[in-house]
Amino acid sequence: MNDKPKTAVLPEKGLGKKTVLKQLDSFASHDPDYKKSRTWSLVYYLGDEHKDFLMAAYEKFFSANGLNPTVFQSLKKLETEVVQMTAALLHGDSHTVGMMTSGGTESCLLAVKTYRDMGRSERGIRKPEMVIPETAHVAWEKGAEYFGVKPVRAPLGKDFRVDTKAVEKLVSRRTVMILGSAPEYPHGIIDPIEELGHIGLQKKVPVHVDACVGGYILPFMEKMGIPLPLWDYRVPGVTSISADTHKYGFAAKGASTLTYRSVDILKHQLFVYENWPGGIFASPGILGTRPGGAYSAAWAALMSTGMDGYGELTRITMETTQKLKAGIQSIPELEIIGNPESSLFAYRSVDKNVSIYAVGDQMEERGWQIDRLQFPEALHAMVTPGHAKIVGKYLSDLRESVARVKADPELAMKGGAAMYGMIANIPLRGMVKKNVLKMFAGMYGPDAKMIDPSDGGMNAEEGEPEEKQDLATRLAMKYIRWKQRKK
Ligand SMILES: Cc1ncc(COP(=O)(O)O)c(C=O)c1O
Repeated sequence: MNDKPKTAVLPEKGLGKKTVLKQLDSFASHDPDYKKSRTWSLVYYLGDEHKDFLMAAYEKFFSANGLNPTVFQSLKKLETEVVQMTAALLHGDSHTVGMMTSGGTESCLLAVKTYRDMGRSERGIRKPEMVIPETAHVAWEKGAEYFGVKPVRAPLGKDFRVDTKAVEKLVSRRTVMILGSAPEYPHGIIDPIEELGHIGLQKKVPVHVDACVGGYILPFMEKMGIPLPLWDYRVPGVTSISADTHKYGFAAKGASTLTYRSVDILKHQLFVYENWPGGIFASPGILGTRPGGAYSAAWAALMSTGMDGYGELTRITMETTQKLKAGIQSIPELEIIGNPESSLFAYRSVDKNVSIYAVGDQMEERGWQIDRLQFPEALHAMVTPGHAKIVGKYLSDLRESVARVKADPELAMKGGAAMYGMIANIPLRGMVKKNVLKMFAGMYGPDAKMIDPSDGGMNAEEGEPEEKQDLATRLAMKYIRWKQRKK
């Protein structure tokens, strides 16, 4: 007897293209409704007209491969121009260089590799470290793990910006780079880049600014007259910046930029292997094959939108952000975390009877895709122009959700709230990692099991009662209940 779920097999005879396209449509029917702006991350969508334009631009270089930049010269031209336009926005000069990557994560990973190799070759550092704010995007942790660089996490100040005094102390002879974000993902706050740049210059350590989110919105906010601290190449110690065209550049997915103050830094990123039977192999980034379409779509997005277009998109985004923030601040049980300058922010509960994760569950029941944060527990929003039309609905749903949770605080112990609460509260973080790895292995294992947050326990097997959950899970549930009562 085989009770395994049905396994996909390559059809003996290929299906008709029409049938296949229909099937694809049906698969998407349960996905979040990003076209109606129900998502708050993951998708930067400006409507079908813009999407069709990006697809047309993508299609022109659909099969072209940027692996070897000497072959498809068209792609090298597109890449160079995207880099140059970006460098100008970031106040680079004629020495600023860079490349296009497949996304923010590749840009971050490459910067780690570059500075590791630069530290080794210029300063003889064998056991490299990098000082990163606690709020650094996980891509930096990934880079640290992949490239064997020890992440030294700098704490935040009360304003949720990295504490520069702590950074100064944490920089050692082994530090190959310092990181600041503009802004960081969790709370949307810009780190004090000028101070980090100063530390970098003093200690002769390069400073990378992660502007994957901010790269194509902060410059336009500044042009609108919104006061912002300096965070780009105008800060003398800043040596490189990552900025994603596939976020606020509104390009097709699979496109980011990584620029450096000079080619003397970039050269540490390049990879060459001269003894391969397949020929001499030179590659600028992590990928081998590089998708030409993603680069042509990024170029097309920048050229067609222009300074005026991005200015207008930024104006709409920031007006929407202000309305949302004001609406949330007017709900007495909630508060915005810190003072986020741009288009993303986090909010938390200040009422002991209102679990913010339960509010998240309620919002999801009302059709919103909600991102949860931990340390502190909060909900997240990354605003795009499409959200302008749903501000009122989001805020009325949020008010309703808060009232519903306040009326029934036990909702904190149910569904997704219980699971996220437990994950955020288990003191032994190694157990969290072990359990999440287990869930992931399940998703990618032979049964390809989907994670269902509403099962109320990340360790529970399907149908497993709470009593059978492991010790860590049970302890965490007890801890949450105790914390809830204590508040
Ligand atoms: C600050 C920051 N850096 C890096 C990344 C990683 O970008 P990607 O998801 O494109 O790999 C993100 C993603 O949200 C981010 O917010």
